[in-house]
Formats: sequence, C-alpha cells, structure tokens
Amino acid sequence: MSTSLNQKIQSLRKEYSTASLSEQDIHSSPFMQFEIWMQQAVEALVPEPNAMNLSTVSSLGKPSSRIVLLRGFDENGFTFYTNYNSHKGNDMAKNNFACINFFWPELERQIRIEGIIEKLDEQTSTEYFHSRPRESQIGAWASNQSAVIESRKTVEEAFIKYSETFKNIEQIPKPAHWGGLLLKPDTFEFWQGRASRLHDRIKYTCDKNNWETERLSP
Ligand SMILES: Cc1cc2nc3c(=O)[nH]c(=O)nc-3n(C[C@H](O)[C@H](O)[C@H](O)COP(=O)(O)O)c2cc1C
Repeated sequence: MSTSLNQKIQSLRKEYSTASLSEQDIHSSPFMQFEIWMQQAVEALVPEPNAMNLSTVSSLGKPSSRIVLLRGFDENGFTFYTNYNSHKGNDMAKNNFACINFFWPELERQIRIEGIIEKLDEQTSTEYFHSRPRESQIGAWASNQSAVIESRKTVEEAFIKYSETFKNIEQIPKPAHWGGLLLKPDTFEFWQGRASRLHDRIKYTCDKNNWETERLSP
C-alpha cells in the first residue's frame, strides 16, 4: 500500500466551526428536528441529501452497511425502497433492528437514527414503483439484487428480456420481491461538528410515546 497516501490520510484534518446545537435550539420532536436539518441540507445544496447509510445485522450478528435513498418521512418513520431478497432484505427479514445515518459535510452534520424495520403496504410500494422511470421499473425485474452473477452480460440480457416482455404493457407490474421499508425510530442522535473536536451531540430516546433528550460527550 502507498505510504505517502497513508501519510496523507493521517494528516487530513478539518476543523468544524460552522454552527452549534444547543438544548435551547432543538425541537421537542426529533422528527421536526430532522425536518429542519433536512430542509437546511436541501437549501445548502448538499449533493444527494437523502442518501443515507443503512446498517443491518444478520441473524448471526454480522453487521453490513450500504447507501440507500430516503424517499419520505413522517412521524411513522423513514421510508426507502429495495429488493426484499437482497443481502439487506435477508438481514432485515431475520433481524428487524436497523440504523440509518446521514452525513452532510457541507453543514458539518451527522444524524443517526436507530429503530425497527417493517415492510410498507403493497399499495404504497406499488404507487411508488409506478412513479419511477420505466427503465428503473424494468431494472427492478432484471436485477436479482445481491446475487452473484457470471458477468455484466447476465443483467444486460435480463434487462433486454424484460424490456421485450413488457413492450406492449403500459403499466409494468411491481415485482413481489421489490418494495418499501419503513424504519420506525426509537433513538435519534443529532451531531454538529465543533472546534477542537468538542462536538455537540443531542440524543433523543422514546419513553412511553414521549421523546426525551440528553447531551452526549463528543
Ligand atoms: C447514492 C446511492 C443510492 C442508492 N440507493 C439505493 C436505494 O434506494 N435502494 C437500493 O436498494 N439500493 C440503493 N443503492 C445501492 C446500495 O448501496 C446497494 O449496493 C444495494 O442495495 C445492494 O445492497 P445489499 O447487497 O447490501 O443488499 C444506492 C447506492 C448509492 C451509492
């Protein structure tokens, strides 16, 4: 491995100084606090502000993470769409604890949200499926997400095959293995980078439908 690159990585240092987060400023609802920060991320033109790291844990306790796109949120939870037979889908079918994490470098902010996962109802998933570009809908049929394939040709041929299958069909049906998931949070943590690594961290936990906040040491 390159020594100079490792030296470079070791010397990368960024001081955080843009903003602060205090108990007086935060909203009593973590969902509202999320909305305020997401709105600011959108206004700050953070690239793909809805991209979030999703961590799942297998039945053997082995964690894995990947980026997915947030497609909606309200007081019920945070919605994203995927293939239910994928690596993450298999994890969540056996262990419904999951965690999502947003990092918005332009705002020096991170949000961690932990909770349990449940499937969205078929109607909501189907409506969202039909709102996607036609090519993405065909892609959902063509990709056996997370399965090992022989070559890129495998998926390209499957795409051509399904394009042909649905050629004269105006509304492509949603595959049963594809749909939405809802992360229902029990914990939020809002992180604001501060000078000298003395970051602000405010954690919300839910106790009998009541959200309580605590400050965490950076
Ligand atoms: C910016 C970005 C957005 C993505 N959005 C999604 C998504 O919304 N749903 C999804 O299934 N995969 C999405 N992916 C691909 C996933 O990161 C991942 O490769 C895929 O879901 C397979 O993950 P798994 O094998 O862990 O199940 C996205 C990747 C990136 C980099």
